[in-house]
Amino acid sequence: MADLSTEFLGIRSPNPFWLASAPPTDKEYNVQRAFEAGWGGVVWKTLGEGRPVVNVNGPRYGAIHGPDRRLLGLNNIELITDREIDLNLEEIARVKRNWPDRALIVSLMVPCEEESWKTILARVADTGCDGVELNFGCPHGMSERGMGSAVGQVPEYIEMVARWCKQHSKLPVIVKLTPNITDIRYPARAARRGGADAVSLINTISSIVSVDLDNFAPTPTIDGKGSHGGYCGPAVKPIALNMVAEIARDRETWGMPISGIGGVTTWRDAAEFIALGCGTVQVCTAAMTYGFKVVQEMASGLSEWMDEKGYRGIEDFRGRAVGNVVDWQYLNLNYVTKAHIDQELCIKCGRCHIACEDTSHQAITSVVDGARHFEVIDAECVGCNLCVNVCPVENCITMERAHGVDPRTGKPIPDAYSNWTVHPNNPMAREAMQFAPEPVVLPDAAE
Ligand SMILES: Cc1cc2nc3c(=O)[nH]c(=O)nc-3n(C[C@H](O)[C@H](O)[C@H](O)COP(=O)(O)O)c2cc1C
Ligand code: SF4
Ligand code: SF4
Repeated sequence: MADLSTEFLGIRSPNPFWLASAPPTDKEYNVQRAFEAGWGGVVWKTLGEGRPVVNVNGPRYGAIHGPDRRLLGLNNIELITDREIDLNLEEIARVKRNWPDRALIVSLMVPCEEESWKTILARVADTGCDGVELNFGCPHGMSERGMGSAVGQVPEYIEMVARWCKQHSKLPVIVKLTPNITDIRYPARAARRGGADAVSLINTISSIVSVDLDNFAPTPTIDGKGSHGGYCGPAVKPIALNMVAEIARDRETWGMPISGIGGVTTWRDAAEFIALGCGTVQVCTAAMTYGFKVVQEMASGLSEWMDEKGYRGIEDFRGRAVGNVVDWQYLNLNYVTKAHIDQELCIKCGRCHIACEDTSHQAITSVVDGARHFEVIDAECVGCNLCVNVCPVENCITMERAHGVDPRTGKPIPDAYSNWTVHPNNPMAREAMQFAPEPVVLPDAAE
């Protein structure tokens, strides 16, 4: 059976599934139950300094549901922990003593002043925890006070605070990044320059999930008013995966340990983050939706898939997808596909036809010899796969690679790889070529 144990910054955990800093990790009772259920680690709910913050006393969540009422996206306006710091620290120390084999990271957010960081780091180190995560991500409530994403949006601040933390603590430092920026590589590079040991991402995305059309206020609504919140859950996974990939393949952050966060709900989500280089994954919404025991399905699913593939440990497949994420210009323009409809599976709903006919390439029939019949016209099909995505029957439409002459262009399809950097239509062809990552085939093949 596959070994799911991980070592991240020297911190061991029995599996890569950590609970992200959020309500599930806000108190001993929760974390105790989480560990009993099998979570490999937790990042404790963010601690601050001074007197505790005050949360709203009304609804703090908004949600986007699928047609089956499954939760797709969750929005929240909650702040950092609103419990006394002394109580939190006491509980953290006790939990770590009781669960020495689990990872226990403490999330922190204090003002951008060296003394504040120095003070809290010393107190946190006394708990015996395994590391700290700097919350530079929270996009609501705390950012207006100059913390959270207000820091995460300024690479110079990230670098400065990370450096203070490394100076004033021996604990591993993870910088948690906000996705509310233009290019995630800049904050990640700043974290590395500041000496951070790792980055974790993503924190939540600034959002308004809906507007109540009776009182014309955003939801969740507090006495007739709403405020933007932070969006998370399955809907944000694609954004998180892309940001993780950007960091994993960037020359300046290459090899930097990453803890992946954002929409992890199943073992497959976790495997995808790990394939893009993550050493652990963190989960919040899935636990809040399905309870702590959801980790058991994640762990067994991952383990079974690893067994099937012959991976003995996480390191056997970690980062395997990173090399296959490339800039668009390096995609093979000689790779030609055509859609194929399995007539046995087709229920003749017509969705593929309408999508292709109205909005794309007029490449699917609707009537043949007077009868309702859906078939791809290879001479029109550009291989875009829109039809695959709108078809309600899984695997009914598949994309198949074409060889020989492309009936659409009437030209032979070269077998060799060739990309935009050398394409004759590219006015920058020569300049672009010098950045090509691997040997390319020259122009006439790509015509
Ligand atoms: C209600 C709620 C409170 C959160 N509080 C914190 C927090 O205190 N500190 C922090 O770093 N992230 C916080 N987060 C963000 C999560 O740790 C996580 O980054 C985000 O939810 C994305 O993961 P998910 O898609 O699995 O939920 C919070 C999220 C939610 C839903
Ligand atoms: S792949 Fe695109 S072009 Fe081809 S049939 Fe499907 S929708 Fe039409
Ligand atoms: S969308 Fe799928 S099921 Fe519907 S007609 Fe097209 S191929 Fe058939």
